[in-house]
Amino acid sequence: MRVVAHISDLHFGMEDERIVEGLLEDLPGFHPSVVVISGDLTQRARKKQFEAAGAFIRKIPVPYLVVPGNHDIPFYDFVRRALTPLRRYRHYITADLNPVFKDDELMILGANTARAAAFKNGRISMAQIKFLADKFCVAEGHLFKVLVTHHPFLPPLDNPYASLVGRGDLAVQALEPCGLDLLLAGHYHRSYMGDLRSHYIAEKRSIIVAQAGTATSKRTRGEKNSYDRIIIDPPNICFDRYAWDGRRFAKTLTTQYKKVNGAWQSRPQNIHETRSQAFR
Ligand SMILES: [Fe+2]
Ligand SMILES: [Fe+2]
Repeated sequence: MRVVAHISDLHFGMEDERIVEGLLEDLPGFHPSVVVISGDLTQRARKKQFEAAGAFIRKIPVPYLVVPGNHDIPFYDFVRRALTPLRRYRHYITADLNPVFKDDELMILGANTARAAAFKNGRISMAQIKFLADKFCVAEGHLFKVLVTHHPFLPPLDNPYASLVGRGDLAVQALEPCGLDLLLAGHYHRSYMGDLRSHYIAEKRSIIVAQAGTATSKRTRGEKNSYDRIIIDPPNICFDRYAWDGRRFAKTLTTQYKKVNGAWQSRPQNIHETRSQAFR
């Protein structure tokens, strides 16, 4: 069994300090194997914002895997945007734009989908797809395989034409045979989940998509700030959503998936059900 914390869209520069503190208090408590941060660490990619984001990340007491978002590329500084779009991200956060986390049960790969030319939209390159497929396909078959991007592969249910990561269809085609199990992303500041096949109808493999809301930004777009705790225990996987209630993060939704005959089947749980009930 592995526990993953998924946080996204921190937006330092537009962050709520109390929520940042609440998040840092929460993270050690459930002993995650790794904290996944799916982009938009800053509001406008400014130096002070990256310094604050970097200071936050260094306080995370366990390994983390991070990818940049569109907000981590300067928006108004056209020269920096064109010539060195991710220089500050590389300096203050990490120079690794192809991060990997791997242990005995879990393989998580991150891919940078932020592009200066695409403004708020993002895409994945053919070189990245090849890199990801090479890694996933040669990894041991028993590993639970996760891909992290900033831009989503699945639109919100109420906005089926929302823009998705460019070349997402090609990435899915390449990674499906490699045993990809889970896609984690952010960007829309909306938390929602689903089976990838609900959108990529040509795909055969059942792959879960879990979109995180914004953990700490004041721009919440109608949803409370939240993060997800993911308990991976194949053939079960359980998502606990923790939302900020004004004083602390409180568990508001548990969604359990079980893989039955090759397909992930979900059932929202009452939050008062115990963990043992959730896995029954
Ligand atoms: Fe964002
Ligand atoms: Fe974004």
